[in-house]
Amino acid sequence: MAPKIGLFFGSSTGAGERVAGLIKQIVEQIGAAEVDVIVITSEGPKALEGYEYQIWGCSTWNIGELQDDWAIRYPELDSVNLKGKKIAIYGPGDQFGYSNSYADALGILMDKAVQQGAEPMGFWPIDDSYEFEYSRGVVENTFMGLAVDEDNQREKTEQRVVDWVYWVLEDMGLYDPAAVEAAE
Ligand SMILES: Cc1cc2nc3c(=O)[nH]c(=O)nc-3n(C[C@H](O)[C@H](O)[C@H](O)COP(=O)(O)O)c2cc1C
Repeated sequence: MAPKIGLFFGSSTGAGERVAGLIKQIVEQIGAAEVDVIVITSEGPKALEGYEYQIWGCSTWNIGELQDDWAIRYPELDSVNLKGKKIAIYGPGDQFGYSNSYADALGILMDKAVQQGAEPMGFWPIDDSYEFEYSRGVVENTFMGLAVDEDNQREKTEQRVVDWVYWVLEDMGLYDPAAVEAAE
């Protein structure tokens, strides 16, 4: 049976929802896993305990805060056991409009996931296509997940997602590029 990834997201204007759809499409095209796409408010955080592999999607709102669906559920995360769960996070944001809190949600949620026992996956380099001052989602010059910017760089989103998804799958042990190359 194919492994399952639980993709839990919240999205206010549809940016994060679009990315969720792209991720599902790419992962399933690669054939590495099946992806269940779930709005975090529809199931609640306890559903997170049911997936060994997870991708969380959360944009940043109100200057450095979580998108509403995640904000509502955030306090409940304290009682969720994520021990050993492999979790990667993506986050839409607006790096020009909110240059001092760009994609902060990446950091807020990853810190919480790790606090609850998760293994962080999918950290991603900050290349020079990004221009922002500060993000809580950055550690040692690396994003704690994938930051996208549907407000200013929509044309870059698809390639960013493709590149990141390959890395997430590899990081999670669901995809081995060397084995794929050898089989070709
Ligand atoms: C009032 C307001 C506050 C925002 N605050 C931030 C912010 O602090 N950091 C950031 O990166 N983006 C911020 N944004 C931009 C949103 O994150 C961005 O539009 C994103 O694509 C929304 O994704 P969603 O539709 O999935 O919720 C803000 C947007 C608005 C309208």
